[in-house]
Amino acid sequence: MVNQLEIRNLHAKIVDGETILNGVNLILPKGQVHAIMGPNGAGKSTLGKIIAGDPSYEITKGDILMDGESILEMEADERARNGLFLAFQYPVEVPGVSNANFLRLALQAKKGGEVNMMEFYGKLQKALQTLEWDESILTRYLNDGFSGGEKKRNEIMHMMVLEPTYAIMDETDSGLDIDALKVVAKGVNAMRGPNFGALLITHYQRLLNYIIPDAVHVMIDGRIVTSGGPELALKLEEQGYDWVKELAVTG
Ligand SMILES: Nc1ncnc2c1ncn2[C@@H]1O[C@H](COP(=O)(O)OP(=O)(O)OP(=O)(O)O)[C@@H](O)[C@H]1O
Ligand SMILES: [Mg+2]
Repeated sequence: MVNQLEIRNLHAKIVDGETILNGVNLILPKGQVHAIMGPNGAGKSTLGKIIAGDPSYEITKGDILMDGESILEMEADERARNGLFLAFQYPVEVPGVSNANFLRLALQAKKGGEVNMMEFYGKLQKALQTLEWDESILTRYLNDGFSGGEKKRNEIMHMMVLEPTYAIMDETDSGLDIDALKVVAKGVNAMRGPNFGALLITHYQRLLNYIIPDAVHVMIDGRIVTSGGPELALKLEEQGYDWVKELAVTG
């Protein structure tokens, strides 16, 4: 079995709308953490949502393979059950459903059966401890009235409890204060290991000081235009995207 998440020549458009992805190629080996950077509107969030199975987009060409198997025919919930996790750029508020209950149901759906409550609370406690967080967040309605930073930290908490095989984190660092950023990085780093791969979408090199990526990819106009190591993020911070945009035109 190929242990990787592979995006193969992916072209996609909004259903009844314009084309956003123009041939994305990207391989995330299990056990690695990769960063995706790129200017506003490049298609980063769209890529994340399409991997997670958002039905507002239509794939016109290419494939997404998880451990060698195409996942295109799977609905979003089936992809989640199979170990995919997307932490949203803008987490949705779910008034009326407590944070802990939502998470328990998600875990139950993933496991396909009743969740052992002791085990569930054990995982919750461990995640809260790593994230230096208080239990009071569990009884509140999911994301309802959460501050921007609390929403982001909560996404990481969910990820830690659900233990996905592949996680996509869309600007999890945006809106976090410097202490929260370190704590969230600690959570992600705690997940690292041979059975976990992650794509971190970010605008800022700063996050990558705390979560050192195995590779950095740059997306422009719906394609990965160049890739490199952590030094690429530093170069972008210093020089901006103009030089990559030129690569996009010539390449
Ligand atoms: N459902 C949609 N309806 C209309 N336009 C869309 C939709 N989804 C994506 N787009 C457009 O596709 C382009 C890519 O959007 P996307 O959110 O993927 O960019 P991004 O790289 O994540 O940008 P940012 O860094 O600002 O988050 C944008 O021009 C956006 O307006
Ligand atoms: Mg985005």
